[in-house]
Amino acid sequence: MNRREFLIDAAAATALFGLGPQSSKARDAEIQILLDEPIGTIDPNLHGHFIEHIGGVIYDGVWVGEDSTIPNIGGIRKALTDGLSRLRIPVLRWPGGCFADSYDWKDGIGPRSKRSCRTNFWINDPFLAQAPPGAAKYEPNAFGTDEFIRFCRIVGAEPYIAVNLRSLTALDFDHWVEYCNSPLGSTSFATMRAQNGSCEPYNVRFWGVGNESWGCGGNFTPAEYAGEFRRFATWIPEYGVNLRLIGSGPNADDFQWTRGFFEGLTAKGKAQLDTLFGWALHYYCGTSGKGDAVDFSIDDWYGLLKKADLMESLIQQHWSIMGEVDTEHKVKLVVDEWGAWHRAGTEVDRSFLFGQMPTMRDALITALTLDTFHRHADKVPMANVAQLINNLHCLFLAHEDKFVATTNFHVFEMYKAHQGGQAVRTMIGASPIPFTSPNGPSSLWGLAGSASLQKKRLVLTVVNPHVHEECSAEINLRGGSARSCTIRTLAASDIHAHNSFENPHAVEPQDTAVTLRDKPVWTFKPASVTKLEFELG
Ligand code: AHR
Repeated sequence: MNRREFLIDAAAATALFGLGPQSSKARDAEIQILLDEPIGTIDPNLHGHFIEHIGGVIYDGVWVGEDSTIPNIGGIRKALTDGLSRLRIPVLRWPGGCFADSYDWKDGIGPRSKRSCRTNFWINDPFLAQAPPGAAKYEPNAFGTDEFIRFCRIVGAEPYIAVNLRSLTALDFDHWVEYCNSPLGSTSFATMRAQNGSCEPYNVRFWGVGNESWGCGGNFTPAEYAGEFRRFATWIPEYGVNLRLIGSGPNADDFQWTRGFFEGLTAKGKAQLDTLFGWALHYYCGTSGKGDAVDFSIDDWYGLLKKADLMESLIQQHWSIMGEVDTEHKVKLVVDEWGAWHRAGTEVDRSFLFGQMPTMRDALITALTLDTFHRHADKVPMANVAQLINNLHCLFLAHEDKFVATTNFHVFEMYKAHQGGQAVRTMIGASPIPFTSPNGPSSLWGLAGSASLQKKRLVLTVVNPHVHEECSAEINLRGGSARSCTIRTLAASDIHAHNSFENPHAVEPQDTAVTLRDKPVWTFKPASVTKLEFELG
């Protein structure tokens, strides 16, 4: 087959490129990078994160306490801040998740010894029934607004706070903004903030107005939620901060939620669109009860990657529906929860609800999803993987004095080179891979990826999902030429490979030195994520 016969547009799938020896056993492919066809700037916030008061995320994960023997910076686990210093973590969402709509922010400020202990939102989850009493069940409120902002400052992330819309009022929201953003000398909340350690306002810009308001966040209809959103979004004090409100968007392919909300939001006129910065899509591939995190078959591997790939069409379809009302596309899509959701059983502690062990399969899901976001950089300015530590699709696992960076961490570390770059159209041609899904025969693309340009530096990231076969691709730069290239690959001989407390370096990226040829060809390893960084001439 002629390579060009199976060229496909990157918007529908993805790309590849190469330098060096071509393996005789490898599948053929072609990657074309159209340097003169920009898509949009890759907002660093597309590589954002999320922490919720659930299981072992905050307590034991992020927060160990100032008196702990575990190394910490003012109570925050030092191994975590060290790990994050290897990423450029742009934005961090907190305190939930479903927890957000049960949280009273006033419980989490002031002297820690005087803070109230409350019942955690997740206490009724059957998983926690056998867990001993502790922070996963009863929220000690040791980690509140001031600790969260301090954590953000240490790791260089912008805070994104999700507001309680189900069980608190619009006035409580106003007060939270006032506590965070009003200048010292102006309000009593500013005085209180100063007493709690910060004379300087926090200048929080991103505020989520509820979370999953179609479910745990109030069980509203789209029209009801639109009314609530309008109420919460009206005349919030700004204190010179350009507030960016994010609405509680759809669960996966719930297109009726998006359509109904935009109709309801603009029921009194389209000016209301100006109050909404982003519309938050949540999409988890795989759900609890449908598959083990570590023990999976080859068909399960392809099946979950295929499900993750649905992000592509979800972005396109919700974007198109938003455009029926928001014809100028003032409102952007924010994917503020995404990742793989496996069955319980691999958590590192009995109380770590949704704590799962990421493998190479999760690493490829991370990579293909970030590539998808890059290819839609014009539509999606922020995304937050769920969740940072000890939870679904996490970058780190921690328990007491043990700590490890997962496969997902390594992909984020490799992909940070894309942040701030100009995404450029990339076309990839590779034979699709057949597999058997629970619904019968199916197939997945043979290679996918994204490319971005920053001055003379071109970054190309590529996923080869084939479990056994290499893929050898010719890489063509349309509109430029490369002078040099460096390559970093994340791969493992076993698709189930993962980093654990016992074996923390099982999966780590490897660098390869290459010499550029006129017609660069690179052979992508099976089940791998590869980054190629070119210096253009
Ligand atoms: O990330 C775990 C949970 O998944 C979040 O609390 C909720 O928003 C989603 O359903």
